[in-house]
Amino acid sequence: MTGQPDTPLIEVRGIGKSYGSVIALRDVSTVVNAGEVTCVLGDNGAGKSTLIKILAGVHRHDSGEFLVEGRPVSFASPRDALELGIATVYQDLAVVPLLSVWRNFFLGAEPRKSIGPLKFLDRREGRETTKRALADMGIDLRDVEQPVGTLSGGERQCVAIARAVHFGAKVLILDEPTAALGVKQAGVVLRYVAQARDRGLGVVLITHNPHHAYPVGDRFLLLNRGAPLGSYEKSEIDLAELTSQMAGGAEIEALEHELRSVNAK
Ligand SMILES: Nc1ncnc2c1ncn2[C@@H]1O[C@H](COP(=O)(O)OP(=O)(O)OP(=O)(O)O)[C@@H](O)[C@H]1O
Ligand SMILES: [Mg+2]
Repeated sequence: MTGQPDTPLIEVRGIGKSYGSVIALRDVSTVVNAGEVTCVLGDNGAGKSTLIKILAGVHRHDSGEFLVEGRPVSFASPRDALELGIATVYQDLAVVPLLSVWRNFFLGAEPRKSIGPLKFLDRREGRETTKRALADMGIDLRDVEQPVGTLSGGERQCVAIARAVHFGAKVLILDEPTAALGVKQAGVVLRYVAQARDRGLGVVLITHNPHHAYPVGDRFLLLNRGAPLGSYEKSEIDLAELTSQMAGGAEIEALEHELRSVNAK
């Protein structure tokens, strides 16, 4: 691939998408740089998933520009995105619960060995590669033969992240990886997000939660009903401001007031 060192891995300029008469996204711009985390924040229906589906090749944008390492692209399928190193971990993870951790790690790309004219699944190689890749990310699983269904939600996210890193992703897109997790597990997942970033990947982190975004994020794109509400680098905004922007400032104050008076009764 080409691209100058300072060319963003991904850049969108004024991008938009409609589903029939529903405008799901309009005039959104942001960048994803190597070794950085771009956070996309917004309420339900804000257009977060629509944006990442465009980046992941699930949907095509119908206005604006989408550049990968400086070159305009329009993906026909998720395979096109993967070929350019853009890997996406969806919230409803594409894992097979009854298959082992290591089989899920490879999912169709398992190592094979030849004995004479026959090819066999190389279980030992598969197990060891998976263990090593997980250990490289600081994930310590006792047994990679255990079914993925026995892992916690956070551990599953971590396996998916390690898989993307192992298979050479340049950009890692995570759609609400912490949404269903408790405080401790969310912390574990965020630690792996930071690790992927430190290995030089560009990460796109979608979340509702400014407390999850702020510690790992380098830039923050806020969406509201499909439109950009704000776009900040970390130095331009603090956690309190990000939280109040998310909540729609005045609205949350009114809500606090209302709840307080209810409690007082
Ligand atoms: N396939 C679709 N067909 C029609 N409308 C859609 C489709 N997908 C999304 N929309 C609409 O586009 C808008 C943005 O949806 P999107 O899923 O991108 O929001 P989101 O920010 O990911 O929300 P959530 O936090 O609930 O996941 C919503 O109004 C939604 O109803
Ligand atoms: Mg969504």
